[in-house]
Amino acid sequence: MLIYSIFLIIVIIILLFSSKTFSPIPYFPSQPVDLPLIVKALNLRNNQTIIDLGAGDGIVIFKAATQAQKKKLNAKFIAVEINPVLILILHLRRLFHPNRKNIKIIHEDIFNINFKDFIDFTDLMTIYLYISPWFLEKTISSINQQLAIRNQQLTIVSYMYPIKSMKKVEKIIKGKNNIFVYS
Ligand SMILES: C[S@@+](CC[C@H](N)C(=O)[O-])C[C@H]1O[C@@H](n2cnc3c(N)ncnc32)[C@H](O)[C@@H]1O
Repeated sequence: MLIYSIFLIIVIIILLFSSKTFSPIPYFPSQPVDLPLIVKALNLRNNQTIIDLGAGDGIVIFKAATQAQKKKLNAKFIAVEINPVLILILHLRRLFHPNRKNIKIIHEDIFNINFKDFIDFTDLMTIYLYISPWFLEKTISSINQQLAIRNQQLTIVSYMYPIKSMKKVEKIIKGKNNIFVYS
């Protein structure tokens, strides 16, 4: 019985990770070796909200939240994720994180989110993206639709993939993979 239950759980997890509904963009975490450079690219400050759209297991958001706490910054962190297994992991990791009061986990499709539901628009906003190039432009257009009308100051940090529609690259940080910063 136990063997069957374990087998069933494994099958469900595999289905969740391979399903186009629950994981339209495959889960690959950012390279741990690049984390210090990614956190540098996020340029942590007071009164800043950092959003990881498609946050995976939260490797970036939790590392950045640790750094913010060490620097006594009030920066807020939001992890948006669609995969229920990863959402569970994000909630568990948040529970044990020393800066949890500044971390929010949102179970949502990045193409359906409504930023006004969870963002203080007076904050500086930084969005971190590590998503397949064929979804990057769609994501950027959906972000712009909501934020451009508010004249929201926005920085986008894209791991590995440049964003073709964004002409002004502020800088490219070279790690194991490139990190592109647009503002
Ligand atoms: C390449 S991984 C990046 C994970 C994390 N940002 C990191 O840097 O380690 C992309 C993540 O996006 C999530 N994802 C895919 N499609 C999504 C969608 N429509 N809405 C929210 N999250 C999505 C996947 O489940 C996966 O965890």
